Parts: sequence; structure tokens; C-alpha cells
Amino acid sequence: MPPLSTSALLRVSAVIVIIAIGYQLGLPNLLIAKVVQVLFSQTYCYISVKTLSSTLSQAECFTVSPDGKFTKVFLDERSYDVVKAARYGHVIPGLWDGHGHLLEYGELMDSVNLFGAKSMEEVQMRLAEYKYLHKEAGTSEQWLRGVGWDQANFGGEWPTAPDLEVNEKFKDLYVMLDRVDVHCIWVSEKVLSLLPSPLPKTPGGEIPAKGVFCDNAMNVVMKYYPKPSNERKTRFIKDAMWDLNKLGIVGIHDAGVSPSELKLYEELANDGDWSVRVYAMMECETRNTYCPDDASKVSREDGMLEVRSVKLFADGALGSWGSAMIDPYIDRKSSSGSLLVNASTLTRLTHNWALAGYQVNIHAIGDLANRLAVNAFTSALDTLCPDSTRRVCQTKNRFRIEHAQIIHPKEQRQMLDIGIIPSIQPTHATSDMSYAETRLGKVRTAEEAYRMRTLLPLNPVLGSDFPVEPANIFEGIYSAVTRRSPRTGLDADDGNKGWYPEETLTVDEALHGFTKGPAYAAFLEGKAGVIKVGAYADWVVLDEPLEGMDMEDLRKVTVKETWVGGKRVYKRAGPEDRRG
Ligand SMILES: *[C@@H]1O[C@H](CO)[C@@H](O)[C@H](O)[C@H]1NC(C)=O
Ligand SMILES: [Zn+2]
Repeated sequence: MPPLSTSALLRVSAVIVIIAIGYQLGLPNLLIAKVVQVLFSQTYCYISVKTLSSTLSQAECFTVSPDGKFTKVFLDERSYDVVKAARYGHVIPGLWDGHGHLLEYGELMDSVNLFGAKSMEEVQMRLAEYKYLHKEAGTSEQWLRGVGWDQANFGGEWPTAPDLEVNEKFKDLYVMLDRVDVHCIWVSEKVLSLLPSPLPKTPGGEIPAKGVFCDNAMNVVMKYYPKPSNERKTRFIKDAMWDLNKLGIVGIHDAGVSPSELKLYEELANDGDWSVRVYAMMECETRNTYCPDDASKVSREDGMLEVRSVKLFADGALGSWGSAMIDPYIDRKSSSGSLLVNASTLTRLTHNWALAGYQVNIHAIGDLANRLAVNAFTSALDTLCPDSTRRVCQTKNRFRIEHAQIIHPKEQRQMLDIGIIPSIQPTHATSDMSYAETRLGKVRTAEEAYRMRTLLPLNPVLGSDFPVEPANIFEGIYSAVTRRSPRTGLDADDGNKGWYPEETLTVDEALHGFTKGPAYAAFLEGKAGVIKVGAYADWVVLDEPLEGMDMEDLRKVTVKETWVGGKRVYKRAGPEDRRG
């Protein structure tokens, strides 16, 4: 956080003086407030402003009040020729990621990056390199963490604990490395030595190799994981927020925050450098339970932190055959994945949380998990609103399915009927496209998997699931619009038609999913994801307008500036504007 500038200090002092004088003169509060607002509002003009508001969809200028809201959005009355030197850049509303993990993102920035490591040797090399730079990592108090490995890069063989005894300088360490989808962990011998023997049974989990724990089996290890201190967590959060601002992100839906972490969030949200709006989904210390007394709802006037939703988990992920399917996997006929919770418990939990006034967000990837989620929601809506339709009741409750990845046509229809909100990660589709059809077969892939256009009437929330995928929203838009990998520009057949291109979105629809979609799904419609009077003054400045931009340029877009609540939180370094 830069220190308050002199002009900001002057403004603050002036506001205080005006309020004091106003009171002395006995002026009504409203009038004083109006004077302050008019005197200390700021107006900004750009070459173009895409507002996403129906009132004035293309503007040029807006005014921001001292409390960080838009008070006026308008076209410049002067001709562009006269003022062009004073205007630069093209504005879009501040971007939202509808599903990410803030702390994990910050922690990842501080751990070994194994994404894209093509062999065990490369993994080991990156580990050794990291240890050389981070001498403190790998002790029993501070395990060495990493993420991004994929057994597909080890010739399809699961890694094992002994693989983590790399060399003289990298041995006997406490190491825990997350698989690329964060649904399995791979740990060292030292970590294994902490665990009970024999290992406890874990329904809904698997231990496919010595040292690898998937889904519910991860809990066996997590019980012994020394949680980072609040001090380290604070640093993770600040690092993460800085990085997200750099990408034009002004808000996120944090998909699973424990009650103790929420307390830390509440403290930190008072800070000037809490620069990302967080709509946090609470997750009980014990997954899939009812713990309303462990944390309270939060709603801040400045909109920097909101807590009124809860996260439940129906299943695991597709990459590790963990997603719960109605029919078995094609490439593993003996398995149809596993549920992390049964139907009756999921329905009971949904009822309990909804009756306590919480929005319920269920992680569901496989078609069986999605079926259970839809059934739980339907049943809860019937209980909550006996006198109105499910659809009307759903507009009040806004139940969501996180991931909504593989959905049987029957539940797709039900979701469309009721208005259940899908929270979709377009880059998951393009990351999984290389193996999804092998797992699911052609029919299921074509009819059920990674629907986007089909679910578009539901006003989907789009996100990245960072740190599982990069947090860059322009990559997410690219994936949604092309159904091709934002990294390579290619589809599953290394072509450029796009993977099941009938499910692509337009740029505007995708942008909607990263602005107004998340706003609605967080009960923030009209306040976030839009540039209009009364909304939070959050915006992003780009070099070029998104309209007409070549798709191959779009996936490489970088942000010029990011503004949150009328404050600039990021400005790209480099030469000043060449353009008028
Ligand atoms: C569902 O799970 C709960 C908790 O594990 C258990 O008590 C209950 O008997 C299960 N219900 C059914 C129908 O299997
Ligand atoms: Zn997630």
C-alpha cells in the first residue's frame, strides 16, 4: 500500500473541516454529505468505457464519490479531438473470479511450481532448486509444499515417497506436493513416518501408491500438517491480492474458507492493502457438517468482505477418477468414482444451512454428484417456500453448483427449470479435454460434459479455480470463446476448431460470466461487475477495446490499471502512454 499522498491527506482534512463547520452552522447532515460528495468526487475520462449497464452501455467518463462508488456515468460533451490528449485506455468493469482459493493461491506463490514438469527428473530438479533458495522449508514445522505434478508425465505411473529422496541436500525432508487438480497429495517418507500404521480406512478416498493420498484419504495426512501461522497466512493473502489485482481482478468468490481463516479475513479487511473484494464461502473445520456457531455472516459497507454462503462437497475430481458417476468410467470399468457424502446427509445439510439463511454451494463434478446436488436443492426449496414456485424461491436462495462439470440431461433440464446457478471454470474444460472422452466415452462427453452454452440461460458464474488453473481471466474468456487451450491455442485434436465448439460462448457472454454473473451469484447485482450509478467504483483499463480484438491477442492481454473502490491498486510498469 503506497503511503497516503499529500493531496489525499489534504482532502481528508478538508472533509473533516467541512463537516465540523457544517455542524456548527446547524446544516442538515444530508446537505453536508452532499457538499462533501460534490467537492471531493473525482471524474475520470477514457477513450471508451464499456459499462455492461443497460442505461448507457458505452460511456466515456464517470464520477467517483469519496466513499468509492460511481455517482455519474456519462459521455464527454467535448469533442474527442479536443480532449484526446487527456484520455487514454479503454475501460471495462472490474473483473471477478467466481471460484478461486485465495490462501492456497498465496501459498502456492510461495511453494514449488511443478506445473508442466514433464518428467520425474524435472520434478526433482525443481524441488532441489527450490530448496536451495528456501533453506527454511522442509522441517516438521514448515513442510516443503508444491503443486502441479501429474502422473501422466511419469509415463502414467504414480509417484512414490522414495522418489522424494532426491539427493544429499534434498533428503529426510517433510514434503507434500499437490497433484495438478489438488485432489491428491504426494508426500515424503518423513511425512509417512507421522501416520498411524496400519493406515485408517477412508471411504471416498484412495491410496494408489505408497505416499500418494487422494480425495478423502488426504485427511489422513492433513491431520498432521502444521498449518501456516497467521503471520504467514497474512503474507499469502497480501501476495495473492497483489497478483490478482495485476490481472484486473477486483473480486473473487473464495470457495471454501474455514471459520478461523474467516476471523483473520475480518481483521485484515480493515486494512488499506486488502485490495480484492472477497465473497467467501464458509467451509466447516470438518468438511460436510453443520457449524453455524463457528463463524458469523459478514457484510461490510465498503463491500470488501461478504460472508453469507457455505461450501459443501459431493465428490472428487475427474483426473483422479474421483468424481461420482451414475455409470462406470470407460477407462476403469470397475469404478464409478465416489461420493464424499450420501444423499440423505447432503439433503439434510442443505436444509440446515438454508434455513439458517445461508446460500448453499455444492462442489459437484460427476453426474451422480450433480444429481444429488440438484435433488438436495429441490427438496430444500420445497421446504423453504411451500407457497411459491421453486424458481421464485431460488431467486431468493441462489443455490449454486461449483464446477457443474458432468451433468445428466435430466438434471440439466431441472437446473434450467429451477434456475440453479452453475459455477463453471472454462479452463477446466480445456485442461481436461485431452482425457475427458477417454474417461467418459463419446456419448457422455457429447451430452453431459462441460456445458457452457447449454447452461447460459442460467447466468453462469465463470471462474478459474485458482491455483488449480492460472488466475488470468483473459485465458478463461479465451477458453470459453474458443474451447481451445489458452496455453497452446489448440483443441483436443491439436486443431483449431475447438473442443465441442457448439458449447462456446461469445466474448460478451464470457465477460458477463466474469462480471455480472458472479455479482448476481453473490447477491451483489447492481453493485459489482458493472459501471453504473451506485455500484462500487471498480474498473480495469486496457490498451485496446475488447470489441473486435483478435482472439489470439485476447489470450495475451495484459492489464494497464486496476481500480477498486475508486483507488488505483495496480498500474503496469513501463514507458508512459505512447497513445493519445
Ligand atoms: C448417510 O451417512 C450418514 C453419516 O455418515 C449415516 O449416518 C447414514 O446412515 C447414511 N445414510 C444412508 C441412507 O446410507
Ligand atoms: Zn475449487
